[in-house]
Amino acid sequence: MPNLQEIRISPSVLNADRDNLQHEISRIASVSDLIHLDIMDDKFVPNFSWDFAAAESIIKGCPIPVDAHLMIEDVDRLALDYAAIGTASVTIHVEASQTPRATLKNIRGAGSRAGLALKPGTAITDYEDFLDVVDMFLIMTVEPGFGGQSFMGDMMQKVRQTRELIGDRPIWLQVDGGISLDTIAIAREAGADTFVAGSAVFNSPDPAEMVKILRQRAASI
Ligand code: DX5
Ligand code: ZN
Repeated sequence: MPNLQEIRISPSVLNADRDNLQHEISRIASVSDLIHLDIMDDKFVPNFSWDFAAAESIIKGCPIPVDAHLMIEDVDRLALDYAAIGTASVTIHVEASQTPRATLKNIRGAGSRAGLALKPGTAITDYEDFLDVVDMFLIMTVEPGFGGQSFMGDMMQKVRQTRELIGDRPIWLQVDGGISLDTIAIAREAGADTFVAGSAVFNSPDPAEMVKILRQRAASI
């Protein structure tokens, strides 16, 4: 029987109603483990979401822990700013960081969980050396930049490799992009335990109910 405690659902508010974000978060907070906040600078990815000041206000007003996914070029400096304001988890892209090991250590040093994200084209095989400084791996299941894209099933091999690499260490394994009722069990079966879902949750007529059903679906395999 799968343990529901090991499954974390982190709804992405990227495509929620931005003008009423507090309300959107309040609709799902009690059934979600984290809120996934996608930070985009229109440089690392061709889209802009929130600058630091706007993100800080969302993070400080959020009733549950925030999982910040930094898709920005200037990540080695800004990751520390996110950690310093109490973001529960700060994830950097290995493709954007000049000094990933040092930045991950600094995130932890500031009291946040340290996440390392890989774009679809980045292989996991080179990252064994990071196991001692990482609290979560994020395997992207779409090209970062936009919500509402199709799940890349061919990333499941990388999820399996990452699960094998993690072994029995208490490192979370997150997937992000195209997670829905049709795909969450596939990612769970491959070894993911932390699931970002944006459009599946916020395009649903009942977002909280969708979070619950996604959790059950992940636990069903
Ligand atoms: C994409 C973002 C995702 C996005 C997920 O770059 O990292 O977090 O919001 O949205 P869906 O679930 O719609 O693919
Ligand atoms: Zn994301």
